[in-house]
Amino acid sequence: MHYKKDPDAKMIPASSYIDRADWNGKTALITGANSGIGLATAKVFACLGLDRLILAVRNREKGEEATNDIIQFAEQHSKRPPHIDIMEIECSDLSSVEAFSCNYSKDLHSTTRPPLDFLILNAGLQLNQRETTVDGNEKTWQVNYLSQVCVVEEWLKSGVITQKTRVVFVSSGMHRLVDRLQLDDIHFQHRTYTFKDAYTQSKLCQLLYMHHLVKLYPSHHFYAVEPGPVKTEIYRKDSGFKECPWEGFEDRPSPDEGAFPILYCCVEDKVKSGGFYAVPDGREGEKSEEARSVEREEELWKLTQRRLKRESR
Ligand SMILES: NC(=O)c1ccc[n+]([C@@H]2O[C@H](COP(=O)([O-])OP(=O)(O)OC[C@H]3O[C@@H](n4cnc5c(N)ncnc54)[C@H](OP(=O)(O)O)[C@@H]3O)[C@@H](O)[C@H]2O)c1
Repeated sequence: MHYKKDPDAKMIPASSYIDRADWNGKTALITGANSGIGLATAKVFACLGLDRLILAVRNREKGEEATNDIIQFAEQHSKRPPHIDIMEIECSDLSSVEAFSCNYSKDLHSTTRPPLDFLILNAGLQLNQRETTVDGNEKTWQVNYLSQVCVVEEWLKSGVITQKTRVVFVSSGMHRLVDRLQLDDIHFQHRTYTFKDAYTQSKLCQLLYMHHLVKLYPSHHFYAVEPGPVKTEIYRKDSGFKECPWEGFEDRPSPDEGAFPILYCCVEDKVKSGGFYAVPDGREGEKSEEARSVEREEELWKLTQRRLKRESR
């Protein structure tokens, strides 16, 4: 697959929001905050006056490196960095995901664990070979989709997510490559696995799930974004690819540019819950017909509830 940069698309960096918001007293949490788009988002967030920024990462050392980067970035921009906490979450293990979310709920309303103002569900991966998690799910689906919604469900119940929280799913325009979501074989047990099919179905599921949330919680704020294609490590580490599967990788936009729609959803008043916002400037992304299917949305919701209850785990 060849990525061709659109010479007319003028990318806008997320960092253009520095000095355009005052988040004094607010708290944000980003999953997968130590790398790529998540780290770029964290750096800009740290310049907006937040009280507390929580980096949800799977490796504490990487979280500490990211913390130093974020503080340095804020200082370079003459900003007072927020308190930065690291929380560990391994999205390929639902017991880790549950422990992470329950730990936050348990201490909710303490100084260190206030209700969230911003929740960015960004952790994600691509895998060249099919892998199954300890919970019996195809790994891309669990890391990119199921684990993120597991957190959302716990935090909607416990009040970590409130009507004031802006929740952003980092989805992808690649969801449009799925003609038909195969909910009867989400784990690729009866069809040929490809990284593209696994990845795109996980990104489609994020959109469908968000649509259902909007119906259940009409006064809350849920958004999805299309940041890509972006030059990040997702195409290299752990993926099993020797080289990036997409040609023209070097020509891709930067993480700071890819993070723009996330900032857009968190800062702008004109965004609407259930919206899908895209690069280069926060314009509305095109949702596929499958992403707008109410039938698919309901089927996915049921499947998700079954998998979260550990049926056949
Ligand atoms: N890059 C693009 O072109 C593009 C386009 C559209 C959407 N996206 C989406 O953007 C999001 C961020 O990706 P990125 O491109 O910035 O890639 P990245 O640099 O690889 O960042 C991915 C983040 O997710 C974390 N992560 C991966 N597996 C995890 C697991 N099992 N448990 C917990 N955390 C895990 C990574 O942690 P480690 O550093 O420890 O691996 C990292 O912090 C993803 O959801 C991706 O699908 C990316």
